[in-house]
Amino acid sequence: MFEPLVVAVWAMLPAYVPNNAAVVLGGGRPIDGGRVWNGARLLGAGKTWRGTVGGILVGMLLAVGLNAARPVAVGAFGEIVPAFSATAVVALPTGAMAGDVAASFLKRRAGHNRGESVPVLDQLDFVVGALALVAVAAPSWFLATFTPVVIAVVVVITPLLHVGTNAAAYGLGLKSEPW
Ligand code: CTP
Ligand code: MG
Repeated sequence: MFEPLVVAVWAMLPAYVPNNAAVVLGGGRPIDGGRVWNGARLLGAGKTWRGTVGGILVGMLLAVGLNAARPVAVGAFGEIVPAFSATAVVALPTGAMAGDVAASFLKRRAGHNRGESVPVLDQLDFVVGALALVAVAAPSWFLATFTPVVIAVVVVITPLLHVGTNAAAYGLGLKSEPW
């Protein structure tokens, strides 16, 4: 179980970090430009250009940084540590942000206000988005990296990491709710 855990965490870091970066960088003009559809915002004020583009750029920088640090990780864990292909560098953070935006679209259609938590959807939207985009954009890299066991580990650890980082951010006074 240890090797799939190493691969899962390393390969998903460029998909995890954009959401957190968006919270820090977000603000300004909303993507939906304030548009309302069937009585609810198209996406909501929580999806901004700055947060989305900033989150994607931070995720891409992280993937490039992980590639640079890979020799160190290979020394510790062996050749199992994946290198990000150029397409994966772009697709993982872009897919993660797209999944988050798509989830807001669904939440508004279902009548949930901005910031209202929808368990499971909130924790896995960016995972589904990142995996789906990278599977389409870089299929051979996807298949070599995300074996069924690695995907299973991702599905289990992501909600745990999400709950853990949110609780930590609450403890540090960065967030007003612990979820
Ligand atoms: N954020 C952003 N752009 C994004 C994602 C997030 O600017 N694409 C910023 C916003 O300030 C947002 C905060 O990060 O309020 C938290 O993100 P998230 O929890 O995804 O948004 P919510 O405000 O909860 O809105 P929603 O209900 O639509 O998820
Ligand atoms: Mg939210």
